[in-house]
Amino acid sequence: MMKVLLLAVALHLLGLSAGQICSEQREALRTLRQVQKILGEHEASYLRGMRSLNRRLNQLRSHLQKDGKDSCPPLKPPRHGRMLGGKVKVGHEVHFLCYPGYRLLGSETRTCQDNRTWSGLTASCAESPTNSSNLRPARCSSFQGTQHCTCEAGYVIQPGGLCQDIDECGLFHGSLLAKICVHECVNTPGSYHCVCPQGYILDSSQNSCQDIDECESEQNACAGGQICVNLYGGFTCVRPECPKPKHNTTYLKTSAHQCERTPCHVSSAACLDAPHSISFHYIAVQSQLPVPRVLFTMTAPRSLGDSQRFTITRGKGQRGLEVRQAGRHRGELILGKSLSGPAEVQVDVEMAEMSAQGVLGRHIFTVTLFVSQYPF
Ligand SMILES: *[C@@H]1O[C@H](CO)[C@@H](O)[C@H](O)[C@H]1NC(C)=O
Ligand SMILES: *[C@@H]1O[C@H](CO)[C@@H](O)[C@H](O)[C@H]1NC(C)=O
Ligand SMILES: *[C@@H]1O[C@H](CO)[C@@H](O)[C@H](O)[C@H]1NC(C)=O
Repeated sequence: MMKVLLLAVALHLLGLSAGQICSEQREALRTLRQVQKILGEHEASYLRGMRSLNRRLNQLRSHLQKDGKDSCPPLKPPRHGRMLGGKVKVGHEVHFLCYPGYRLLGSETRTCQDNRTWSGLTASCAESPTNSSNLRPARCSSFQGTQHCTCEAGYVIQPGGLCQDIDECGLFHGSLLAKICVHECVNTPGSYHCVCPQGYILDSSQNSCQDIDECESEQNACAGGQICVNLYGGFTCVRPECPKPKHNTTYLKTSAHQCERTPCHVSSAACLDAPHSISFHYIAVQSQLPVPRVLFTMTAPRSLGDSQRFTITRGKGQRGLEVRQAGRHRGELILGKSLSGPAEVQVDVEMAEMSAQGVLGRHIFTVTLFVSQYPF
């Protein structure tokens, strides 16, 4: 449009006679100034528009870059199911549930991984065959021509006025943290209950299992002369024995858990070198115990030397068991690696009483660790 206007002005000027020039020239100049003004305004508006457009493009770009950096692509809830958790940032989890009558295929839980992909497989809900024993009629009432149906607690309404039992046990199946029962879940019409393995009772919360102390409850759990040791999920009977006499060295049982060396003949080096005492310790732990954990603390009953030195003499390095000096007169037996049960681990820890002259005497702690089958 501008070009046409300028051309018109130029042609107009060319066509003028000399006499007309003076007044016509002023007229033309005024027109030119107006055209220039219009042009200037157009230019300014155009630049403003460009700047604003550029700003918006920049905003959009930085937004897209920020979002993409630590997020996974959005996920959709499955058909006939729900998705719990909508955060798509790295480290977040989403969970999938299916409506009653459908069962989940794929992963129940998916995590947004460091490389911005989802772990696991796409979740979908497949129709599961209806189980007529899980159905019961709904209670329906009519009000002003509209029917309204409800189900008892633990049931969910289905098309056709039926109520289907909710399988509570299946709701969070596979997710350890959200497990309904620590051990086993049994679905019942309208409800569920938890079951514990033998040796445990259901605690008051009705979903965890508590160990039964058989040594407390059953008087004759062990035969006479034996010691009853309560374990997680059971018990065992032990009878600590002193070493048989050997090389002029004899031990006497001084308590149910302890043997002491009888005085040595001054000429018997083997006897003088043998441990002064041997004590027996039985420790019950659960499977998969968080580590590191102090299992047992050892101190000298009466200290002869300046300090005690602790070392594992039998079963060294066994299943992550270590001994640590916890002070001049104190040592600790430490579980450094998580153990899976059921298992039994035995170590001997020697406590040597030290003085400037050397070893004054030695004591042996025989420690038996009983690891249960379950982590409770
Ligand atoms: C992303 O990381 C996970 C686990 O670190 C790995 O299994 C998967 O193959 C990776 N995916 C891609 C596309 O790199
Ligand atoms: C139906 O449900 C009952 C009780 O929950 C169960 O014992 C039975 O095995 C189920 N039948 C089928 C075909 O799933
Ligand atoms: C046992 O004691 C006798 C003396 O009572 C001694 O002659 C013998 O060498 C000792 N045996 C050992 C193995 O120390």
